[in-house]
Amino acid sequence: KRRIGVLTSGGDAPGMNGAVRAVVRMAIHCDCEAYAVFEGYEGLVNGGNMIRQLHWEDVRGWLSRGGTLIGSARCMAFRERAGRLRAAKNMILRGIDALVVCGGDGSLTGADVFRAEWPGLLSDLVAAGELTQEQIAPYTVLNIVGLVGSIDNDMSGTDATIGCYSSLTRICDAVDDVFDTAFSHQRGFVIEVMGRHCGWLALMSAISTGADWLFIPENPPRMDGRMRCNRKERGKRRTIVIVAEGAQDRHLNKIASSTIKDILTERLGLDTRTTVLGHTQRGGAACAYDRWLSTLQGVEAVRAVLEMSPQSPVPVITIRENKIMRTPLMDAVQATKDVTAKIHAKDFDAAMNERDAEFKE
Ligand code: F6P
Repeated sequence: KRRIGVLTSGGDAPGMNGAVRAVVRMAIHCDCEAYAVFEGYEGLVNGGNMIRQLHWEDVRGWLSRGGTLIGSARCMAFRERAGRLRAAKNMILRGIDALVVCGGDGSLTGADVFRAEWPGLLSDLVAAGELTQEQIAPYTVLNIVGLVGSIDNDMSGTDATIGCYSSLTRICDAVDDVFDTAFSHQRGFVIEVMGRHCGWLALMSAISTGADWLFIPENPPRMDGRMRCNRKERGKRRTIVIVAEGAQDRHLNKIASSTIKDILTERLGLDTRTTVLGHTQRGGAACAYDRWLSTLQGVEAVRAVLEMSPQSPVPVITIRENKIMRTPLMDAVQATKDVTAKIHAKDFDAAMNERDAEFKE
């Protein structure tokens, strides 16, 4: 029977368990065996009981569980060739030559490198006497398929990453709660949400909660005094500002929540508090959308693994206009890098000014 490994890597995201469950059950449905690799690439490098077969009933009830039940890690060893050699050996010894990796762009890039190196890794293992030619013979190609698990929704080529809508829901609930106390005391609140390079969570939560101001890395403010409003005349009892963790000004300097708090206090005369939502945004049960998305994408990942030809590039499973699709992984990663490079480019200020001028026209 074909053996398919599944691992979760990088920051955990709600829905990862749904993805693992779907991969395990679809693999079994397709007459394969499913192996969970625990603690991300760390499990692949260390082997032992960190790689274990999972059966149909082992993943019962996983759809609604938060975090990732097979663990995740940001593994340094796998970034080195020596680590990847150990990972390849561990896989061959267990007869695993297919992997479904659920993680962010960094984790998925690691998967692409691993696949490209695979034949070379195997011949090095034989040359070093760690494996025999007979042992590697049945496993000349490594099939890898990516699933994007990240609360940030920061991958190009897909409308949603697994976990982003659960996180958005949690943020909205938290902002609603803050609204109540802000109303009671007629206060301002600066609420910081996650998103290192991507303002999706901040933007979507600001729209969904009706926040007053928003700071995201992609569209920095001029900081020229636009934060003005006569709250009392307008009968406002609460003022909410959502700030993405990666918010920056046009000169690429980080905009700290404390700076915005000072502006609210000094310019608007508001009694203001700051709330950093932190990792509460990442934990907790997956929302219905993430349960659905992770299930469909997990099923598609197994199909892709079984249908991959040795020449085809590593696919990542995406969703576009509500259709589950396969996209070449490195195209999506490159497009993501291009966007990130744009918002961290030296001429970002000039680009923003140009865009503003076009907008005025
Ligand atoms: O998963 C992505 C992310 O949520 C980012 O928005 C955030 O900067 C980062 O993870 C924090 O991760 P950790 O605390 O695990 O290093």
